[in-house]
Amino acid sequence: THSQLHAIRGSFLDFVDDPFLIAESESVRYLADGLLVIENGKIKAFDHYETLRDQYADLDITTYSGNLILPGFIDLHVHYPQTEMIAAHGEQLLEWLNKYTFPTEAKFRDVEYARTIASFFLDELLRNGTTTALVLTTIFPHSVDVLFEEAQRRDMRLIAGQVLMTRNAPDFLLNDAKIAYEQNRELIRKWHHKDRLLYAITPRFAITSTNEELTLAGVLKAEFPDVYVHSHLSENLKEIEFTSALFPENKDYLEVYERFGLVSDRSIFAHGIHLSDSEFERLSNAGAAIAFCPTSNLFLGSGLFSLGKAKSIEQPVNVGFGTDVGAGTSFSLLQTMADAYKVIQLQGGQLSAFQAFYLATLGSARALSLDDKLGSFDGGKEADFIVLDLQATPLMALRNPTLTASLEDLASSAFALMMLGDDRAVKATYIKGNLAHEIKPSDS
Ligand code: GUN
Ligand code: ZN
Repeated sequence: THSQLHAIRGSFLDFVDDPFLIAESESVRYLADGLLVIENGKIKAFDHYETLRDQYADLDITTYSGNLILPGFIDLHVHYPQTEMIAAHGEQLLEWLNKYTFPTEAKFRDVEYARTIASFFLDELLRNGTTTALVLTTIFPHSVDVLFEEAQRRDMRLIAGQVLMTRNAPDFLLNDAKIAYEQNRELIRKWHHKDRLLYAITPRFAITSTNEELTLAGVLKAEFPDVYVHSHLSENLKEIEFTSALFPENKDYLEVYERFGLVSDRSIFAHGIHLSDSEFERLSNAGAAIAFCPTSNLFLGSGLFSLGKAKSIEQPVNVGFGTDVGAGTSFSLLQTMADAYKVIQLQGGQLSAFQAFYLATLGSARALSLDDKLGSFDGGKEADFIVLDLQATPLMALRNPTLTASLEDLASSAFALMMLGDDRAVKATYIKGNLAHEIKPSDS
């Protein structure tokens, strides 16, 4: 553990702007031989090695050659209680929830079980190069406590909140709206801004909430304006039909959340597959964000997200990637990018490697309004970063030659990395400048 000054030398890739809106030559930053200087968990300096070498001549330097160092990945939507029910066969959303999800989440009434899964889940994030996540829990307040406690032990920046559900689920998974409101107030006071932890008000989705519960969620948001709101939106056609039957006075799905004051620049909605132009426009105007969860959308047969529409130059909506485990089929943001590429291909569009890596880093940091702290190697930010091995498997080594200084070669190598890579490519994960996961040479 380094508490003072130390540095990492290697090839660094990050973003200074959005490559969906700005040319890649202007938005991508690639230092083929760079130096990242870290002091007390924060970035003190970042530049070409040659530029900084004299100033930091006596420094303790760790060198990674032939790897690519990126800001840590951000998972913008994931359910930790669903970790052990990943890859459950055969259903679409509403049937899948009833058959697999709700019975699994009920097990979290046992706090020790919850802690075991929370610990496994966070280690799995680190193994996959994910250093920050926006996480759903269950209705049980202790399922929030154990996740935050385990994240705190690992020094991770994590956002989570108690799941709110008052109807259309089995009795054993329903909370009382007024009691849940009081529990949320307590959890916010206990955890929001504690170390690196932040709180999200988390109504599961419109279907499982009553008007009373959404009203109280809006009251909470008004009382604690800088907490997040995290939910699901427009994922599945039967879900949308059921929502409009439950809330007939609303013109569309998004309006349910709008009417209760739940749509702002600190709101993150998973999926958004079947949104109207008006809903995209209102999300853009509000500064809200969509978590694009391609492995989940394909697995549940939910549909193809219109990334091109969301990231339009005229009316951009903030977007990041969610793994959405357990409907998602991988904790790897690399695998998530690979499926995102295929989802865009199926719609006749294009997703470049740089655009995908942007979404998983600075794009998500911006979606969370945390880009002053995370998402790139700018000085002053928190030193969460990952070392990726472009040649992690024999096939990747065959496909990916040694890195050059050219942005064009890098685009091709980075693309092969996202299509072929997974946890095996995450050679090391650093949290606040400290090594939190590493593949040792003998492991591979
Ligand atoms: N909508 C409401 N709950 C869930 C969930 O657990 N997973 C997914 N994918 N969608 C949901
Ligand atoms: Zn989800």
